[in-house]
Amino acid sequence: MHNFIVEGGHALKGVVDISGSKNAVLPIICATLLTNEKCTLKNVPNIADVNSIIEILRSLGSEIQFENNTVTIQNKNLTLKNLSGNLVAKMRASILLLGPLLARIGEAKMNFPGGCVLGKRSVDSHTHSLKKLGAEILDEKKGLHLKAKKLKGTNIVMPEMSVTATENALMAAVLAKGVTRLRLVACEPHVQDLCRFLNKMGANIKGVGTHYLTIEGVKKLHTAEHRIIGDYLEAGTFAIASAITAGDVLIRGINPVDLDSFWQKLEDAGVELKIEKNSVRVKAPKRLKSVKMIKTAVYPGFPTDLQAPFVALMTKANGVSKVFETLFEGRLNYLFELEKMGAHVEFLNPHQAIIIGPAKLKGLPIASCDLRAGAAMVLAALAADGITEISNIRYIDRGYENFDQKLISLGAKIERVAFEV
Ligand code: EPU
Repeated sequence: MHNFIVEGGHALKGVVDISGSKNAVLPIICATLLTNEKCTLKNVPNIADVNSIIEILRSLGSEIQFENNTVTIQNKNLTLKNLSGNLVAKMRASILLLGPLLARIGEAKMNFPGGCVLGKRSVDSHTHSLKKLGAEILDEKKGLHLKAKKLKGTNIVMPEMSVTATENALMAAVLAKGVTRLRLVACEPHVQDLCRFLNKMGANIKGVGTHYLTIEGVKKLHTAEHRIIGDYLEAGTFAIASAITAGDVLIRGINPVDLDSFWQKLEDAGVELKIEKNSVRVKAPKRLKSVKMIKTAVYPGFPTDLQAPFVALMTKANGVSKVFETLFEGRLNYLFELEKMGAHVEFLNPHQAIIIGPAKLKGLPIASCDLRAGAAMVLAALAADGITEISNIRYIDRGYENFDQKLISLGAKIERVAFEV
């Protein structure tokens, strides 16, 4: 077990190269299950979630090598298995195995992924489309058990614009017989990257990047090589690291268009941006301004995954900001930790809060409560007086590759220390 010890007050300067996208690579690794031919993925981040999904695939019989950010996968002899171990229980993204397993071996059986975090509503949006494609639901109460003799293309209106439910529907539909029309799908950059990978494997998906996809089923998919897109959520986190520390950082390796709504809010805060084709230079202003409203929404709206990092910035901004987290009710919990550090927060309800800035943050021991909250706490610690000790950093390691090393290369003082449990 490790903690981060962060000494605040150092301006970040320099260049940072962004890793491959966590939320793109997880479904893409699952999509390789759709062929028995070898697939090669480049720019794969070496993060805990990727290692977990690889371990799950290996337990199904996949042959996988992971070296130098390149993964090669061959899924020749897959065995049907009840996926019930620790990895499935702690990882929401393991639900992404449903679609490909149904399409490839006609059956999928697993415990509920992510334990209680994934409520019934979210499972419904996954099973809804798989049922329409012809899957029979044998169990959706104690766990998930689905079977399909033959998947058949049809018209499906998704019950909500869910990222992973869209990805599951897509991965089942590419090998279904006939045409599937999927309406009201999510179109986040990682969903688009999955579509591009599937098309390279021989799938026929049209409408990529929109809320309406048409999939003409094919008999077989084949080998493909793909470079995972840069992680726009990691890029947004480093943009805030620069802005909150009075820094000046060049962020490379992303498509800045993926973050339009985020850049707009950062400019509202007075941050200077130089946006190029694949990079953004982020220079902090003398005085940060508050932003009236940060309201999360599905893409291309303000990403929920950057809500906590952005609000950390607002604690240092001059004036009153309001945050409206429209997705998870637990996603404002990190504010209790920022309050301990000296942030002025008024909670309106589980989804909304007001931040009154600028606050003088001071370092003390705090605990990370999820991946993005953990990142927000590191950002607040970089701007705080004194030393902050952040525990539960395993959450941060799930989704950020070499987070501490990248920050250190920009001038941050951050140490990873081991402790006994
Ligand atoms: N929604 C909102 N507001 C938002 C975003 C989404 O109301 O700001 C709605 C969606 O329309 C959907 C519901 O909330 O009805 C649930 O979201 P979704 O099903 O899309 O979430 P998910 O597929 O379970 C993925 C990411 C999450 C990310 C969400 C939202 C992966 C593996 N996971 O989850 O990533 O928060 O989409 O974008 O892609 C993370 O990276 O830290 C993470 C949790």
